[in-house]
Formats: sequence, structure tokens, C-alpha cells
Amino acid sequence: MIADRLLNVVRPKTPDFVPGPRYYTPLKFLNEMNRDPLGFLTRMQKEYGDVVRMPFALAPIYLVTQPDLLGRILLNTEKNNRKSLGYRRLKPLLGEGLLTSGGDLWRTQRRLANPEFHQKAIHGFFDVVQEECLKLVEELDQRIKTNPLVNISDEMSRLTFTIIVRILFSINMHDRAQDVKQALRVLQDYAHFLFYSVWTLPMTVPTPGNLKAKKAIQDLDQIVYQIISEHRAHPDRYQDLLSQYLKSVDEESGTGMTDKLLRDEVTTLMLAGHETTAITLSYAFELLAKNPRCVENLNLEYAALPQSTLSMSDLPNLEYTQNVFSEAMRLYPAAWAIGREATEDIEFQDYRFASGSTFICVQYLTHRHPKYWPRPEVFRPERFSAEESKGRHPFAYFPFGAGQRSCIGSSLARFEAQIILATLMRHFKMEAVKDAPYTIKPLITLVADPGITLRLSRR
Ligand code: HEM
Repeated sequence: MIADRLLNVVRPKTPDFVPGPRYYTPLKFLNEMNRDPLGFLTRMQKEYGDVVRMPFALAPIYLVTQPDLLGRILLNTEKNNRKSLGYRRLKPLLGEGLLTSGGDLWRTQRRLANPEFHQKAIHGFFDVVQEECLKLVEELDQRIKTNPLVNISDEMSRLTFTIIVRILFSINMHDRAQDVKQALRVLQDYAHFLFYSVWTLPMTVPTPGNLKAKKAIQDLDQIVYQIISEHRAHPDRYQDLLSQYLKSVDEESGTGMTDKLLRDEVTTLMLAGHETTAITLSYAFELLAKNPRCVENLNLEYAALPQSTLSMSDLPNLEYTQNVFSEAMRLYPAAWAIGREATEDIEFQDYRFASGSTFICVQYLTHRHPKYWPRPEVFRPERFSAEESKGRHPFAYFPFGAGQRSCIGSSLARFEAQIILATLMRHFKMEAVKDAPYTIKPLITLVADPGITLRLSRR
């Protein structure tokens, strides 16, 4: 380490030179990444700064928490920048869905899906979100009479899953939610393994992990193909994203989307469209449970609402609620890192990054960077007021990514979260529970394992 420091001092910054640990072998690096990724990356940033070269001789990997460079990487288009190897490894699971595809196919699919996620379309989902929320409130009301301890992560996951399949595919999945969620859980662990392994065996090799994942894919596919065939059989019955996909025709070939491609999109949206929102909400509830001052601010906001049940016109007045969600995403960004690979050389300040370099853009660290966030460990939703947000670097905060490949569901996530937070916080008091520990696992998303448990009581 000392030698390395000296190296950085005595060796002038040539365009190619970026500080970083020279003494790590790639294997040691991967071991550290698997053992305690957040701890390891935090140490690397503290030790070497905001752009760190990770030790991969053939294909350099850079850890990036410098907002100017983050902007440069994320705003680059596919021409000179593509999603990193980790995403390509997810293709056996997600195929050519929006998250993993690229090029013309991605562009066409994104264009088709965009209108469904526009503000106007989202407002049309108010009733569904609220209805599902009130159902949960009723259920919890009954349950806490005998057991006030609630695994809020599980509840949020179930709730956001039910909402996303209702609004995107018009399906009520209460009865099958458990099967789907079980399969998705297996796939999430498997996806993490694929994302971070040095090398992987093709899915055709019958390793225990591959067999388990294959079974989960089969279970999930059975349900997804059922949804697709139901939509194909009754095209007039549905007016949702899936029916838009079914109506779409490729301009050149004149053909519609295949069932396989439809399956990839449906699976991607089911996966990307619920767990992230659920995770953020769970952390938000826990942060509120530990910060009574913020709950008081919420109560003031709710006291000004005209009725006990929310209406669409209340949402613009729930600014503090929205800021709570933003601040929870700052401290615990569900998508905690984004990977990109340069497909041509990138010149930036003193540095030149060769084509083929991988960048890990780490929200978790950037969102806690003391240069941009005073007292970064403190939960303070006020940071996101219009006043305090003025002048902040636009890439000091990027929970939904940025540029062409930014999250398609960001407005939907914020909309849903506002309704869920306000409805639950108006009904329940939430307290932290000491003897229900959990571990933060940075899988593909920032999972709290085995979930966050809170003590709920009626207000
Ligand atoms: C708090 C909630 C959410 C967070 C933090 C989040 C975060 C992200 C991030 C960081 C990306 C960019 C990944 C990259 O650049 O490599 C992304 C992409 C994506 N997200 Fe979200 N997301 C959330 C909610 C949602 C919802 C509700 C949906 C859908 C209903 C959704 C669907 C997608 C899709 C399809 C992509 C890929 C977009 C593309 O490449 O065109 N997400 N999300």
C-alpha cells in the first residue's frame, strides 16, 4: 500500500495512469467483491480516490464515483459505450428484454414501451395502486392484532409485484404471486452469480446451480406464456403494455413480436418493475421508524389533506413524502451500481481509457460522497427540497441511471412510492425492532436479507 502511494506520487499522471491497487490479483479482487462488495469498494475509494483502476491485466475495470466522469460515461450513446459483460451474462434469464438488449431491437422496443410510462398514462394507474394499498392495510390491520411484527420487505415485494402485473398486463396475480416470487428469487441469486463470476459454464451443463435456475425459468415461463396466450386469444379485452406489444409490427419484415421476445419483455418488466421499488420502500419505512422528527413532518403534510383517503389531486402536495423516498434512494440505492464498457477510447481530463475498459458507476458510494453530501450518513429528506437541491452536481445522484438507458419506470416508481408511503404512514406507526437483524446484500439489487422487520400499530 505504501509502495503504491509512493508510486502515485513519483509517477506523473500520464494519460493512461489511474491510481489503484497494483498488488491485487484478479482472483483476490473477485474474492473481495464476493465477500463484502460495499466494504471493499468503500475502502478502494477512500484509499485511491474517485476513479480507481481495479487490477485486471487484460481488461481494466474502473471504479467511478466522480460525477463529471459518471456523466460522461452514462450519457455516452451505444456508439461508444455499451452495457457491461454482467448484463450480457443475464441473457439466459432475460433474453432480449429492455434491460439486456441493445442496438435497433432495444430502440424499437423502448419506443413501443415509452408511452406506457409517460406521466399521463401513469396517472391512470392511481386507482389500481391505491386499491392494492388499501387491501394491504386491511390485511395488516387484522394481522397485527395477534402479531405486530411485520417483515416489511416481504410485504412491499408482494404489493409492488401485484401492482406491476396488474398495470402492465392486466392480470390479478394474488393467487400465483407466491410461485412467481419463489422463481424470481432463485433467478435473482443466479443472476448475481452470473454477474460476478470470473467465468461461467453454459446453462446446458447440468451443474446444481444451472438445474435449479432452469427449473425456476420453466416455472416462470409457464405463467408468462399463459399471460401472453390469454392476451392473444382476447385482444379486445386488454389495453395495456402487453397488448401494445402484440399489436406492434416490424416495419421492415411486416411481422409482429415472437412469443419468445414477448416473454423476454414481460419477464424483464416483472423483475425490474417491482423489487427495486419494494426495496427502497422498505428502507424508507425503516429510516422513518428511526427518525421520529421526519415522521412529524410527514404528519404535518398529511394533516393538511382534505380526506382520510388519498386522491390523485393530493399528490402534488406530498412533497415531503417524495423527498423521503428520494433520500431513502440516496442512502440505499436499490440499483447500487451500473456497469458500462467503452467501445472506443475515452479521453477525460488527464486520463485516457482504452476501448474495452469497464466502468463500475457506483451509486452507493457517490450518493454518500462527503464532497456533495454534507454529513452523508444522516437521513435528512430536506436535502431534496428545491432550495437545498440548487447547485448540486447533476451526477452526484443517479438512482435511476441516466442517458438513453436510464430507467423507463422512474416516474412510475416515484408515483407508486408516494401513494404507498402516504397510505401506510397515515394508517400505521412503525417502530424499529432490535432483535430482527438483517444483512445488506448488494446482489443485482441492494437486498436486505432476510428482510426488514418493523413493529406496526394502528395510529
Ligand atoms: C426505485 C425503483 C427503481 C430503481 C431504483 C430503478 C433503477 C434502474 C436503473 C439504475 C436502471 C439503469 C440500468 C443501467 O443503466 O444499466 C434501470 C433500468 C430499467 N428499469 Fe428501473 N428502477 C426502478 C423501478 C423500475 C420500474 C417500476 C420499472 C418498470 C415498470 C423499471 C424498469 C426498468 C427497465 C425496463 C430498465 C431498462 C431500460 C432500458 O435500458 O431501456 N424500473 N432501472
